Amino acid sequence: MLVGLDRADDAGVYKITDDIAMIQTVDFFTPVVDDPYWFGQIAAANALSDIYAMGGIPKTAMNLVAFPRKQMDLSVLRHIIQGGLDKLKEAGVVLVGGHSVEDNELKYGLSVTGFIHPEQVLTKKSLQTGNLLILTKPLGIGIINTAIKGGMAGRELIDTATRLMTELNRTAAEIMMDYPVHACTDITGFGLLGHVAEMVADSGTSVQLFSDRIPVLPEARNFASMGFVPGGAYENRKFRQAMVDFGPAVDRIFQDILFDPQTSGGLLICVEESGAPGLLDTLKKNSLNYSAIIGEVVSDPCEKITVI
Ligand code: CO
Ligand code: CO
Ligand code: CO
Repeated sequence: MLVGLDRADDAGVYKITDDIAMIQTVDFFTPVVDDPYWFGQIAAANALSDIYAMGGIPKTAMNLVAFPRKQMDLSVLRHIIQGGLDKLKEAGVVLVGGHSVEDNELKYGLSVTGFIHPEQVLTKKSLQTGNLLILTKPLGIGIINTAIKGGMAGRELIDTATRLMTELNRTAAEIMMDYPVHACTDITGFGLLGHVAEMVADSGTSVQLFSDRIPVLPEARNFASMGFVPGGAYENRKFRQAMVDFGPAVDRIFQDILFDPQTSGGLLICVEESGAPGLLDTLKKNSLNYSAIIGEVVSDPCEKITVI
């Protein structure tokens, strides 16, 4: 076993031969959007993301379904499954099976298996002083989903959020493998700071984040200031705030955005400084327009995150 339960990472990795390691992950959740087809796509993009975050190529998947058969029409489930299937097809992944149970609350997700060369596995660890951090999708999705549930968001914003959540991290993952990348993770439920904290813990280094370079959906700021901050953001803050120092430029609203739980968020890529400009350029040339260098690894053994 190369990556297992002894440390938090995106997926488990098991070496099969000297050339092949298997990556396994599973993810499922309750609907984040009203439309069942789009929910299926988002759930699949989210489940696949942990394979990409390890640097791997997903190959097979299995559906996990909890369905309230008495309250809901089966056509809802058909649309969810179709959304998931279409996203798998886009990723070049084959659905090989699945399992469904009856439940009071609808839940959908997938287990995904992927492959990688054992020496190319990207974990959350191995940060090195001087490395730069690149984020590939903007923050604020959790806040915007909360506003959508509150009936506050217009059609255009709902479409933007949905498009971002259904966007595969595949392109970013394929591109980064050509650069001197030392570590990677995807930004999901713990928010940007929660996931950076996992990278910093036991690394013997610290991270400095540049608040003015972190990509944020502009509407997220407005909605956060109106109080549409998901409960998870406060839990993330409580859990990790001892590791974080905020500079005077970082107001409370922006702090909430940095702790905002993301659904199917972007990759956070830790790359050698020399490779960062080329990687960023290539990401942008491939339409990952929000990509930005958002921070750097610094030689402070305190394992802190400073946001300036
Ligand atoms: Co992950
Ligand atoms: Co996951
Ligand atoms: Co990883």
